[in-house]
Amino acid sequence: MVEDDERQRRIEWLGQVCIGLHEQFGPLTEGAPAAYIPELSNVDPDLFAIAAVALDGQEQLTGDHDHLFTIQSISKLLLYGLALETHGREAVLERVGVAPTGDLFNAIELDEERHRAPNPMVNAGAIAITDMVGGSREERIEGIAAMFERYLGRRPEIDDAVWKSERATGNHNRAIAYLLLSHGIIEDRVEETLDVYFAQCSVLVSARDLAMIGATIANSGVHPVSGEQIVSPRVARDMLTVALTCGMYDYAGEWAYTVGIPAKSGVGGGIVGIIPGAGAVAVFSPRLDEHGNSVRGLRVFEALSEEFDMHLFDFDRPWTRA
Ligand code: DON
Repeated sequence: MVEDDERQRRIEWLGQVCIGLHEQFGPLTEGAPAAYIPELSNVDPDLFAIAAVALDGQEQLTGDHDHLFTIQSISKLLLYGLALETHGREAVLERVGVAPTGDLFNAIELDEERHRAPNPMVNAGAIAITDMVGGSREERIEGIAAMFERYLGRRPEIDDAVWKSERATGNHNRAIAYLLLSHGIIEDRVEETLDVYFAQCSVLVSARDLAMIGATIANSGVHPVSGEQIVSPRVARDMLTVALTCGMYDYAGEWAYTVGIPAKSGVGGGIVGIIPGAGAVAVFSPRLDEHGNSVRGLRVFEALSEEFDMHLFDFDRPWTRA
């Protein structure tokens, strides 16, 4: 058991290190904001935030931590939790597996043998998971909004311009959805399901929100501020597992090897890293590398993992409560 004052000291030290990393990596201008969704390229590429939240809700915030950007694929992790809570593991596993693909996040591919999507963190899996949200179009969007409200502590706002832009240019996702339909994995309401999928990608969050979401999962599903159990510990465990194995697109293997923190990335420029039993760190910086991951985000997590022994398989992890 780590003593309370030692934990406090480390949280404050983490805050200081985040300020230093913000200064160190601020000048980095490698990469570019996502452009395949036209509206996403309108962002100021120099925005940069690092936010950390501990299990008790304590925050360490640096840079543009309250700037709102679209959550994009980080929503996939939350929707996976919702599907597991609502339908249970077996029903979800029938449609979506847990195998990392090593391929692009928008690959038009399925687990052909099992007639299911490879995993919930790639688009095929996320569209299948979105299909599992029941009701009319409005009820489905409301169900997802209600879930976000529990994590964010406020009604989620959708960036309409991004939502529209995804709808207008999302033919690649249409191809994935029709492949899913042809295998009977989703129902015959493709446009509606895609609309709901694009809506959840367009939810606006800040780096601080992402760190709070991550800290909830790190806290076995209990929100650090509201105290609400948003997902069960078992579901939080499943979310963490797919985050570690599939959360960073086709970079997931290298990430697990070098950083070793369950994480999810989005093409809006966010990355949330979750340290089970300790808290979460989120980075927002819209310049992306070829995998779709924030370049400064990668650098920050590599440095933090090293400095604080945050890798899941570091043998002396002073962070966790156990
Ligand atoms: O499907 C899309 O293109 C986006 N709305 C989600 C993109 C994202 O962040 C990458 N996905 N894994």
